[in-house]
Amino acid sequence: MKAMQFARTGTPDVLHLADVPEPHAGRGQVRIAVRAAGVNPVDWKIRGGSTLGAVPVPLPSVPGLEAAGIIDEVGPGVEGVRPGDAVFGATERAAAEFAVLTHWAVKPEGMSFAEAAGIPMAAETAQRGLSLLQVGTGDTLLVNGAAGGVGVAAVQLALARGAEVVGTASAANQEFLASLGARATTYGTGLADRVRALVPRGVNRALDVAGSGVIPELVRLTGSPDRVVSIGDATATGHGVRFTTGAEGRFFSALGLAASLASGGRFTMPVAQTWPLDQLAEAHRFSEGGHVRGKLVVVLD
Ligand SMILES: NC(=O)c1ccc[n+]([C@@H]2O[C@H](COP(=O)([O-])OP(=O)(O)OC[C@H]3O[C@@H](n4cnc5c(N)ncnc54)[C@H](OP(=O)(O)O)[C@@H]3O)[C@@H](O)[C@H]2O)c1
Repeated sequence: MKAMQFARTGTPDVLHLADVPEPHAGRGQVRIAVRAAGVNPVDWKIRGGSTLGAVPVPLPSVPGLEAAGIIDEVGPGVEGVRPGDAVFGATERAAAEFAVLTHWAVKPEGMSFAEAAGIPMAAETAQRGLSLLQVGTGDTLLVNGAAGGVGVAAVQLALARGAEVVGTASAANQEFLASLGARATTYGTGLADRVRALVPRGVNRALDVAGSGVIPELVRLTGSPDRVVSIGDATATGHGVRFTTGAEGRFFSALGLAASLASGGRFTMPVAQTWPLDQLAEAHRFSEGGHVRGKLVVVLD
């Protein structure tokens, strides 16, 4: 099958189209004919040579951790889906004609494959952060970095939990955050003052998605390091704040939750831009720019 892969780590130029062996569904897995694959910052971090504290990536490597498509193989022990079903889910080699999913949900009928492909990593990570923070009715959550994939998911999943949400984004994304149901403000100098002006009674939970060096400010705003979680700033632990990587457990039930909320019109994952599979390098370059609204996706015919 055709796949994008890299045989050495480096710039986006190391990505190239290759013929690689097809994967097959093992126990508890399904295989899909991939229609779309989501692009995440971790993809270019790994491609660039970062091991993110884990073991080095085996080379050659097919990037991508999420995809949507049509099931064509169902592994032993799998119930509830069959060949022909449209699903989206988590994988380890998404940028390819076929991918094996370890966790998945049925794609809502009205949702495009591109939108569905952008959901798994964002929804899982957001749900993990919200669960660690025990966000619920009566809480006011600040999401720092609310306009990207994880932020968009966090805003909507927190609203679904009954919380009020304040999100930070650049000036260009203020209306976008408001359209998701968040109260929006800009990041940068004076953040705490702007948040206090927006919510005079204050915020009592904060999820740091951007990892932009604001942990002390978030602790001051919420009143306690216990009320802050970061997914993007490893120095958070030095302030007594939890930094979650997923090593402590993943929240893949978020995929089904996102699908069900989307069917009810309460969850969406806007796709900022798509590219054909063989232009994955362009998607990585865009993602590395750090200003994605929603998700970036590569699509297959
Ligand atoms: N620890 C984990 O388990 C885990 C899981 C998933 C992702 N991550 C990490 O979390 C980060 C975010 O992931 P993502 O998928 O949401 O990325 P993304 O889709 O690329 O989103 C980037 C967003 O960050 C915003 N941003 C840029 N500079 C900012 C700043 N100084 N303050 C606040 N927001 C800012 C941008 O908004 P504007 O365009 O409006 O500036 C953009 O929407 C990445 O570093 C990723 O590797 C960690």
